[in-house]
Amino acid sequence: MIVIKSPAEIEKIRAAGRLLARILRTLSESITPGVTTTADLDALAAILVKEAGGRAAFKGYMGYPAHICTSVNQQVVHGLPTNRVLMSGDIVSIDMGVELDGYYADAAITVPIGEITPEARRLLDITRQALYVGIDQAQVGKRIGDIASAIQKFVERHGYSVVRELVGHGVGRKIHEDPPVPNYGKPGSGPVLREGMTLAIEPMVNQGKPQVVCLADKWTIVTEDNKLSAHFEHTVAITRKGPLILTVE
Ligand code: MF3
Ligand code: CO
Repeated sequence: MIVIKSPAEIEKIRAAGRLLARILRTLSESITPGVTTTADLDALAAILVKEAGGRAAFKGYMGYPAHICTSVNQQVVHGLPTNRVLMSGDIVSIDMGVELDGYYADAAITVPIGEITPEARRLLDITRQALYVGIDQAQVGKRIGDIASAIQKFVERHGYSVVRELVGHGVGRKIHEDPPVPNYGKPGSGPVLREGMTLAIEPMVNQGKPQVVCLADKWTIVTEDNKLSAHFEHTVAITRKGPLILTVE
């Protein structure tokens, strides 16, 4: 069942989203290449969300042990923070869910560490753009499949692939709600978008093949071919005036 949110509820999700956007920016600005570990980012995220009266929504979710997901290089999503030091040339996606005053927002960014290769830079640029191509389709009367196919076509046109095993989702009263929001599919398919729906749109884009595998830690998802992967995510409300991005400052 897809939960429709009132304007007052969307304001609450926006407040969670504003906090989340600020935390993601602060985390990315805190990284010193050769010094900062992904566990450092997790510890800082825990402090920042607590200070603001919020809660890290992933912590404890299905037993997830950390406050954020940190996925480095060929890691796609759900990377467990560790004592791994982030080095110049790495890319790290930071994914976080925040609960504030009973409402949830979800967002992710992929951050370049120091100097990265032109190939990695292009992957980040295309993945970020793919998110906005998807958001453009988040209009009253369109369908989930319009978001999904727009993202897939854009990504594949640029020579990359979209991950199939993991998808976006409704978000707001819970961290994961209906409907699933895939990054692949057919235009005109799936649920119709209505005013008051709130969606986490989150393309996961691989440099090589779309296949992924899960590491022995039972969380971290990596590309099967060990090529790079990137991930950007926003929480978006469907409104009469068009898509409203809620995970911005
Ligand atoms: N960010 C993931 C998503 O959007 C959720 C990860 S929850 C975790 O679906 F607990 F598995 F990390
Ligand atoms: Co999400």
